[in-house]
Amino acid sequence: MPTNPTIPQATSILRAGGLVAMPTETVYGLAADATNPQAIARIFSAKGRPTDHPLIVHLATLAQLKDWANDIPTSAYKLAAAFWPGPLTMILKKQPSVLPAITGGQETVGIRIPSHPVAQALLQAFGGGLAAPSANRFTHLSPTTAAAVKEELGDKVDLILDGGDCEIGLESTIIDLSSAPAVILRPGMISQAEIETILGCPVITRRQDVPSEVRVPGMHHLHYAPTTPVRIVRTEELTANLAMAKLPIAVLSYSKITVASEAMHHVCLANNAKQYAHDLYHVLRKLDHLECLEIIIEAVPNAPEWEAVRDRLSKATRR
Ligand code: TXA
Ligand code: MG
Repeated sequence: MPTNPTIPQATSILRAGGLVAMPTETVYGLAADATNPQAIARIFSAKGRPTDHPLIVHLATLAQLKDWANDIPTSAYKLAAAFWPGPLTMILKKQPSVLPAITGGQETVGIRIPSHPVAQALLQAFGGGLAAPSANRFTHLSPTTAAAVKEELGDKVDLILDGGDCEIGLESTIIDLSSAPAVILRPGMISQAEIETILGCPVITRRQDVPSEVRVPGMHHLHYAPTTPVRIVRTEELTANLAMAKLPIAVLSYSKITVASEAMHHVCLANNAKQYAHDLYHVLRKLDHLECLEIIIEAVPNAPEWEAVRDRLSKATRR
């Protein structure tokens, strides 16, 4: 792999059907030419991801949207004006030309225009759509640094563009606009309330316990999981649970607590959803390396701004 790789190097790898890890404002993506079936196949094999799980197509500009999506509703343009480039993915009816390997054989396609300057530079230089799932192995935590991508994928990726640590740290909000009413399939840092304000009507957030015919592997309960077992504990039960736990353990809280033993590896994150989200995957990855018996995580508040964090924490729990 070249040291200090450049956008032209990355572009020629993509044109040759290779895989490039690109930083985005949410998490790092594993990018390939979205029109090249062999390149798409390499994404699935590098991630160890089942092939019926659809991929998001990343674009540089709104002008490209019509090449990928069909029958685009006004709501999509309203949301694009408010949130693109940025951490929002829209599910829209697909153009017939979109490869079934991208859509998992469905009639819809996920589209996002990312804002990260490196992702933008790459997309503009490449000129077409880049299919890019998060750059981790299937069910693992999404990487928020170039080092985490290397740890996840090693030599399976041809080049890693290092764009520093990701500003948001959690994956994009996904909204399905392919039929009415609009449904949020994956909460993210663009909230339901912000979306409703722009659309001027209520939208639904699909709860994980509601079965659906739409395949969203992010809904799989082992998604976004460290390899160490994770247990979520309510704030008022934290002290008692720590006292009873078999050591060594890792503890992730946002309340300022003191731990009794050196065999309790404690990290206190910010009592602020945005900062907490930014740090979560990076810290979980570090705690996972400690090979503790379990990671005990203090349940986060029930307030709407914590929705995306709550969603990811519930999926990090192996049940
Ligand atoms: O922030 C993000 O969205 C990151 C960065 C790299 O852009 N990407 C990401 O991709 O999280 P991935 O593949 O790890 O998660 C994308 C989710 C999956 O759960 C997938 O099922 C869903 O988007 N998805 C993609 N296309 C879909 C479709 N046509 N219908 C329903 N869900 C779809
Ligand atoms: Mg993912």
